[in-house]
Amino acid sequence: MICLEGQQNLTFHDLEFKSTKDIVTEIDKKVEAFLVKAILARYPDHGVLGEEYGAVQAKSEFRWIIDPIDGTTSFVHRLPFYSISIALEKEGELVLGVVYAPALGQLFYAEKGKGAFVGDIPIHVSETRELDKAVMATGFACLRAGLQNNNLPIFNEIVPKLRDIRRFGSAALDLCYTALGSLDGFWEMNLNVYDIAAGIVILKEAGGVVTDFTGGRQFPEKGIAAANKDLHNELIRILTEFCASA
Ligand code: IPD
Ligand code: CA
Ligand code: CA
Repeated sequence: MICLEGQQNLTFHDLEFKSTKDIVTEIDKKVEAFLVKAILARYPDHGVLGEEYGAVQAKSEFRWIIDPIDGTTSFVHRLPFYSISIALEKEGELVLGVVYAPALGQLFYAEKGKGAFVGDIPIHVSETRELDKAVMATGFACLRAGLQNNNLPIFNEIVPKLRDIRRFGSAALDLCYTALGSLDGFWEMNLNVYDIAAGIVILKEAGGVVTDFTGGRQFPEKGIAAANKDLHNELIRILTEFCASA
């Protein structure tokens, strides 16, 4: 309710700017404070890493990773594509992911080894094998941050090969819609662990493959590429070739 009511009553006076285009609102902070309080009340010796308030009690085998609103720009512009992303890490391994989209009424979740779901429905990545039959998503944090090394040249390389592209505005939801099979793949640069942690658990439990742009495990630092196995191979082939020639 914090998000739905907050979004309706939001005014542009409620916005703060981490950089010219990187917005944070009182609602982001309120959601994170609510979640941290609820988690530590239940698990007082766990650690927490949240986007807005940082790390709490870092010394623990358990760490919760929270993005209180993933897609704040969508949220502020009264669009439905934003989500609350919560992941749990045990001894450094992601074991639980929950992504809730309040405006869409969708709750995605997965526990390692137990499958991925939206509501009570099991989900699985798509069976699409050819790029020209695939709809993928990406994002442009790089442009928001004015980074030289940005996604536009890659976007221009990949999009003509696809059936179509979507830019919903929440990396966590992009990963969930790939897990759902509605999207066939997702790639992005310059994300942070809290953007993707929960979505990765859900995508992998839905049979998807997720790596960095070279096919390795250094994501999101070296980019993130997620899809079903066949399309992931195609995506990595393009990204590797492109990065090598760049
Ligand atoms: C953003 C969203 C967006 C992605 C940006 C992220 P935020 O998260 O995930 O889709 O392209 O890079 O920063 O900032 O709204 O939590
Ligand atoms: Ca985010
Ligand atoms: Ca956020």
